[in-house]
Amino acid sequence: MYSIFNLTNGGIILDKLVINGPTRLKGEVNISGAKNAAVAILPATLLINGVCTIDNMPNISDVKIYCNILEELGAKITWTGKNEIQVDTRNISCKNVPIDMTSKFRASYYLLGSLLGRCGSAEVGVPGGCKLGARPIDQHIKGFEALGAKVDVTGGKIVAKAKKLTGNHIYMDIVSVGATINVMLASVLAEGTTTIDNPAKEPHIVDVANFLNTMGADIRGAGTDVIKINGVKELKGNITYSVVPDQIEAGTFMLAAVASRGDILIKNCVAEHLDSVIAKIVEVGANVEDLGDSIHVWMNKRPSKAIIKTLPYPGFPTDLQPQMGVCLSLADGTSIINESIWESRFQYTEELNKMGAKITAQGKSAIFEGVKSLTGAPVYMTDLRAGAALIIAGISASGTTEVYNLDHIDRGYENIEEKFRKLGAKIQRVTE
Ligand code: EPZ
Repeated sequence: MYSIFNLTNGGIILDKLVINGPTRLKGEVNISGAKNAAVAILPATLLINGVCTIDNMPNISDVKIYCNILEELGAKITWTGKNEIQVDTRNISCKNVPIDMTSKFRASYYLLGSLLGRCGSAEVGVPGGCKLGARPIDQHIKGFEALGAKVDVTGGKIVAKAKKLTGNHIYMDIVSVGATINVMLASVLAEGTTTIDNPAKEPHIVDVANFLNTMGADIRGAGTDVIKINGVKELKGNITYSVVPDQIEAGTFMLAAVASRGDILIKNCVAEHLDSVIAKIVEVGANVEDLGDSIHVWMNKRPSKAIIKTLPYPGFPTDLQPQMGVCLSLADGTSIINESIWESRFQYTEELNKMGAKITAQGKSAIFEGVKSLTGAPVYMTDLRAGAALIIAGISASGTTEVYNLDHIDRGYENIEEKFRKLGAKIQRVTE
């Protein structure tokens, strides 16, 4: 789905969101399945010699790309419902995945772990994804090599080969979601036990482990400081699994309620996955009712200032940092955000400054001098979560905001403008 080409190309297709504000968002929103779980569970199906049905699958472009990749590898994919998919991986061909398919997004690196586990070899293009900084994969490679694989990165490809995968003790030098999941994928069918020390503990890590265990794997401790994987001979399918609700989407709507001074009931989510976000929005003056599988957030005053530091789970999530930045742009006083995960996750602040925000971003920190209100302007999405932040800003701002580069947002949010429209936002997707 293309959203914008430069107009010197004769103005091929120009998608944009046109938002008129300010609107105080009110009503209920249903959260979809988690993108970062779905893009790991789909490649994990390659480890299964069977058919599995996956429910609560978000209908987003990253999922669609993964379905195309799995079909390229010989899987049979059937959408059996709006958010339900059946994956038959009994006839997988252990071949290379075309680079132009894997360079579209970051999560393609999970093909390494799953094809290594299934075929003993994998060749995948160096992954793409949001431009947030270097995004190295040294910890993934460290894990694969510890299991007995030989890994080379040449000519824009990552090539991994292993005559046999044998369990080992792996210490992660840095907490990495991707490397944790990739080592799990490569070790579920390995011989012996693999221990991962210092793993990431995000809800999507637990979800991938739960999915694999449902299919016959033996993974213990996902979500804790040590994960143990006892290798098994085979994973059988013929089971239905439901993807965990997306805590980042839920947090996006919580922060939209705060920025727009609205009142939103966020349904089909897991409140405990958002403890750090609940704590911080209460700190800035929001009212929160934790209802377990839904969260009620309402805000009837200007947010107070705050200091935010993004950390691996259960710390404040980096994927909600831009959305929090919109709230702090409107806060009473000066706030600071320290972004400890990514080197370059403040590109959105330049766009907010076009709307009248007063933000000074320097390296991994940004200072927010709160203003009373933002004013609509043409702005450009620089990455997925920055896109969500700009939509929230447009809804909270006075006047008209036009948001471009929509392919970013379509990667990770299902029908986002429809969900916001149901909450009262005046938002339209326009194709010129
Ligand atoms: C996942 O990215 C998510 N993407 C990101 O969400 C999220 O921001 C990130 O985890 C952190 O939570 C998916 O799950 C598809 P990491 P990932 O490995 O796995 C460094 C979104 O908006 N690192 O946990 O790439 C790395 O540079 C996206 O949904 C190494 O040094 O992140 C970073 O500083 C954006 N070596 C830190 O670790 C490695 O081998 C965390 O990265 C791997 C990572």
